[in-house]
Amino acid sequence: MGIKICGVGAFSPERAVRNADFESIMDTSDEWISTRTGIHTRRYSQGESTFELGAKSATEALRDAGIEASQVGLIIATTITGDFFCPSLACMVQREIGAQNAAAFDVNAACSGFIYALDTARRFLETDKNLEYVLVTASDRLSAIVDFNDRATAILFGDGSASVVVTRGESASDIYGSFLGADGTGASSLYGKHCYEDHPFGEQNHTWESEFPGKYEKIIQDGKEVYKFAVRVLPIATEKAVTAAGLTLSDIDFFIPHQANLRIIQAAAKSMDIPLERFYVNIENHGNTSGVTIPLALYEGVKSGAIKRGDKICLVGFGAGLTYGSIVFEF
Ligand code: UT7
Repeated sequence: MGIKICGVGAFSPERAVRNADFESIMDTSDEWISTRTGIHTRRYSQGESTFELGAKSATEALRDAGIEASQVGLIIATTITGDFFCPSLACMVQREIGAQNAAAFDVNAACSGFIYALDTARRFLETDKNLEYVLVTASDRLSAIVDFNDRATAILFGDGSASVVVTRGESASDIYGSFLGADGTGASSLYGKHCYEDHPFGEQNHTWESEFPGKYEKIIQDGKEVYKFAVRVLPIATEKAVTAAGLTLSDIDFFIPHQANLRIIQAAAKSMDIPLERFYVNIENHGNTSGVTIPLALYEGVKSGAIKRGDKICLVGFGAGLTYGSIVFEF
């Protein structure tokens, strides 16, 4: 069974933080950031919560799909910066948009979150014949969890949200292929620890923390390790999803990769022998917004007219977990 993306929405906070802005708070330069990452600007929330950002893109996606919030049967949200341990981001978005008939839950697969969430949406649509519309929302506020004393990490991330409304494909022959992967042995390459208080019943030791040092509630990253992982798994995930869809790489009109570093995208394109022009890239304006990057790029591709109905799209992501995955579908 294929899927139909019947509406897209996105929201980027107004405050633009340019590379040069970092020069006043850390030892860095516009030149270093742009040549090493491809990033020029990112947007930062000015106090808006992750759920408020999410609700904005969700509202636009519903409008774009031409449906009412009450028609949504399921909301799957993905974030690593939820405002609460509980309730989920999905429940908060449901509350904000008034989707009172929807079940709601979050998927945590970090920057691969949208891939995991959209693939999960398709599986629900396939098995629940009463379900017509699923809202998949990605929303993140990475500015809240970057360590501004860590110059190699702080400059990478931004805030934003993007959503899609998805339903079943119109014909049985619709194209769809997916691949989801994970490697928890790489967990310590990229993580963020919660700061929980110890309970009062006896001494506790936190031996596991020796593997996960660093500040609570901040992103800790071994950039080189994540870089190597990304360059290795992006082609693997892409080829697996393309093959699962019964296609070859040359059939794909647009590849939409996770936007973490332009050099990673260039390396993946080169290793698959695909011209960079077939990769949708918008990292220069947003930085890495975690699970948001892929639906945000899809949104911009659609709204700019670059991506058209009938195009064969390959989404491919990687992130903390470590996780990776890819989806091929016809827009
Ligand atoms: O979705 C999450 C996924 N995360 C990623 O995809 C991150 C993947 N990794 C990367 O994108 C890159 O590894 C980084 C952008 C994080 C770092 O780039 P790099 O080319 O691997 O740089 P590096 O860590 O090897 O550092 C090279 C030099 C070092 O100085 P020395 O030791 O050579 O003197 C760093 O201290 O660059 C220095 N450096 C900086 N200099 C100016 C690191 N960050 C900065 C900075 N400004 N912001």
